[in-house]
Formats: sequence, structure tokens, C-alpha cells
Amino acid sequence: MEFSVKSGSPEKQRSACIVVGVFEPRRLTAVAEQLDEISEGYISNLLRRGDLEGKAGQMLLLHHVPNILSERVLLVGCGKERELDERQYKQIISKTIKTLNETGSMEAVCFLSELHVKSRDIYWKVRQAVETTQDTLYSFLAMKTKKGEPRRPLRKIVFNVPTRRELPIGERAVEHGLAIAAGMKTTKDVANMPPNICNPAYLLDQAKELETYPSVAVESVNEKQMHELGMHSYLAVGRGSANESIMSIIHHKGGEEGEAPVVLVGKGLTFDSGGISLKPGEAMDEMKYDMGGAAGVLGTMHAIAQLNLPINVIGILAGCENMPDANAYRPGDILTTMSGQTVEVLNTDAEGRLVLCDALTFVERYEPDLVIDVATLTGACIIALGAHATGIMSNHNPLAHELLNASEQSGDKAWRLPLWDEYQSQLDSPFADMTNLGGRAAGTITAACFLSRFTKKYNWAHMDIAGTAWRSGKNKGATGRPVPMLSQFLMNRAGIESED
Ligand code: BES
Ligand code: MN
Ligand code: ZN
Repeated sequence: MEFSVKSGSPEKQRSACIVVGVFEPRRLTAVAEQLDEISEGYISNLLRRGDLEGKAGQMLLLHHVPNILSERVLLVGCGKERELDERQYKQIISKTIKTLNETGSMEAVCFLSELHVKSRDIYWKVRQAVETTQDTLYSFLAMKTKKGEPRRPLRKIVFNVPTRRELPIGERAVEHGLAIAAGMKTTKDVANMPPNICNPAYLLDQAKELETYPSVAVESVNEKQMHELGMHSYLAVGRGSANESIMSIIHHKGGEEGEAPVVLVGKGLTFDSGGISLKPGEAMDEMKYDMGGAAGVLGTMHAIAQLNLPINVIGILAGCENMPDANAYRPGDILTTMSGQTVEVLNTDAEGRLVLCDALTFVERYEPDLVIDVATLTGACIIALGAHATGIMSNHNPLAHELLNASEQSGDKAWRLPLWDEYQSQLDSPFADMTNLGGRAAGTITAACFLSRFTKKYNWAHMDIAGTAWRSGKNKGATGRPVPMLSQFLMNRAGIESED
């Protein structure tokens, strides 16, 4: 898809389609008004006859509107003017894009970016329009023998801004939106890939693809090296799998040499069967997305490499597969982590924390400015926050606030949960320094408490994306989250302006 911004009046556009809004009930937006005048009341006549009420998401495609240079006019219902919020704006854009893509307009000029959305500026509206467009048009076709694309798909879209003064802001919004969308696509593609193909070695291959950016260098740690490093907890989880555990390390060197990096660590369980504590069969296929954290880190590294952010960032993909086997680790085993602390395994399905704790100790060597881990860590997080918000926990208040701020700016929702010491005793073990199981109460928090015992040497935040990284149900698939939030966080750190 090609995107651009322009500042013009609707009647002057010569395009396959122009897109303008209509509010409920039957109220023309200023741009629709202009078209109505030129066409001598053609549009207001239609509305009067009841063809379109203006409810949010309603679509009416018109051909050969009198005196209009464009072939088509798409009228888009925008709901009540005063109720137009961010969520509705994105829904309207998404529905518009679907309609355009399916009705033969290969290009369009869209005036919906001029709609007034509560407390959001033109930068935000254009950037969200770009991200939403790419998200809407995404489909995972790698494994389909018949691709089934529309005959005349949408190829080019112009978002209009009110005046020429806003053109540079709009262009910056397109550039940022495209980078984030590219990152999200990378995340979705690897996360949707089936687990017979997407294993830890595949994650490394995908990381290496980013080496086409001059700022990026990739290395990896295999099982033999993990052994030497003492990463016995990480190794234990992968021991039942025929696929070797591999930790991929992606360096983005955009800052000064020697400048402390931001480190992102992604849980990369390319399949989580539960191991000896086998999961129930229902929806077990969805555990291919248990590498959603690694996929999110990979996509974020893609976005920031494309933006060429002037900071140093290291992305770790903690690749591993959790399978039952004669070699598999078992409940009752006591593991010695890279930190030296011991863990009594009470459930082999609480494997994410066992992989992450060693990765979090490993990254100490980078003397990081801060560390964020991203993981589909607990089913309890879905119970607490559903599919809408990522759970955030942190040992450093300013970092938590920075992340929540980035979440608010990017529209990639997140909510903080507490990490109070009161919860720590749920991990007590009579045999080792701790267990890997905190019990039913506050499962998301006790998982983070476990990790917090390995992150004392730096400022750290944990993101539980179990609910947000993918959609379940008929339309299941990876969402590309939390790439927008993480990219925004890093853009803010790099001092990139994202307002007008
Ligand atoms: N990968 C799962 C968490 C998960 C569950 C993510 C459902 C997305 C959807 C994780 O490894 C796991 O199995 N967690 C257990 C922890 C429990 C054994 C303490 C869980 O949430 O049930
Ligand atoms: Mn598990
Ligand atoms: Zn898991």
C-alpha cells in the first residue's frame, strides 16, 4: 500500500473514490457539504430520502455524482458528532478500508482524517489511519494454496489534512505509522506461523532478516553455550523438545558507542504443550502463540530499525519449546538458575518464568539502562484484563509511568498491576529458594514476583501480553501488539516528536 498526505478541497480531486463523512442523523460534515453544493444537492437529497442515516460504520457508495471529477464518492457514517472517540475513529477507518478494497477503487482520497476526534491532533489521526489500514488489510496467506485476493485491491490512499501547514506533520505521521505497521506485520507473520515451522531456529532466521538494516547485528546463544553460562532453568524447559533452544540477540546500534542500551526480552515458547503437566486438549493449538513476546520484540526491533532511532536497543528472543518426553523436566525437579538461586518445579506449565529468569540474568552483561520483558506469561492475565489491556508490572515507578504514557499515546492499551512484597511469600518452597508456582490467587502478579527476583540489578518492567497478543475464536490470529506501545516508548526515549 502506498500512503500520502495532501491538502485540497474535495470537489477538486480526480480519483477513483473520495471518502467523506456523514454524522448521525443525516448531517453532512463540512467536506460533504462542499460536495453537496457542487453537485446541486445530490447528496442531501439522498439523505432526505433515507439512504443513509449516518450511524457509525454505515457505508454508501455513489457513482457518477453530478459535477464531481472523481469516479466514486463513498459516504461514511460517523455516528453522533460529539461521540466520535478514538475507538470509533479506528472502527470507521477500518470499515472504510474494507469497503474500498472490495468495491474496485484502487486508489482513494480520504477526508476522514479531518474529523474532530476528542483531544487528538492531526498527527495522531493520520498515523492511526495508516496503522489501522495496514492492520485491516493484513491476512496470513503463507500457508494457503489459494490466496483469494480481491481482483482490484486498494493500492494507494491519500489522507487529507485541513491546510498546507499540516502537510509536514502528516508526512511524519505516515512515516511513523508505516514503520510501526511494518513491525506489527513482522510480529503477526512469525506469530501466525505454525509451530512445525516456527521453532527457535526459525526465530533466529527471522531476526537475521533484520540485518538488512545497517544498524542491526544479530548473534545467538545455543544449548551448549547456555550450559557453559549456567542457564539450567532455561535449558530444563527445552529438554523435552527435539528442537534446540536458541536465544537470539538483536542489536540496534543507533546511539553513541558505550551508551547504555534499552533491553527488551521476549518469551519465545514456539509451542507450549505444558510439558509433563500437560495442558488440556482444547485450543492447545493456540499455544503456538506462546512466542508472542519474542514476536513483539522482533517487530519492535523492525520498527525502530526502519525509523533509525538514535538510541541503542537490544532485543532478546528467548526461543524454546515445552514438550513432554522421557528427557523432559518434571514436577519436583529442583533447578539451579544462572543467578545461582534454586527453583522447585511444581508445574512444568509455568515454564515461561523459568526461561525468562535466565534470560533476565544473562542481560546483566549489557549494563542496561533498563530492561522490559514481554511475555504471554499467564492465563490469569486474561481473566484479569481480558483481551483489551496488557498487564504492566515494574520495580521502578517512573518506568511504569513512561510505559503507560506510551500506551496512551499509541492507543495500545495497558494497565498496571501491583508488585507488592506481600505477594512474594506465595512462592515459598520448603526445598529450594522458591517454587515456580504461586497458586490461584493473583497468578499474574506472582509470576511477575518470580521474575522480580532476577531483576534486582536494573530498572525493569514486565508486560504480560497473554490477552492482547492474539485474538481467539473464529477469526483467530496474532494482533501485532504490543509493537505500537513499545515503539512509542522507544520513540519517546529517542526524543522523536509525535505531536503537531
Ligand atoms: N503460556 C501460558 C500462559 C497462557 C495461557 C497464555 C493461556 C495465553 C493463554 C503459560 O506458560 C502457562 O501455562 N501459565 C500457566 C501458569 C500456571 C501453571 C501457574 C497458566 O496461566 O495457567
Ligand atoms: Mn505454560
Ligand atoms: Zn507458556
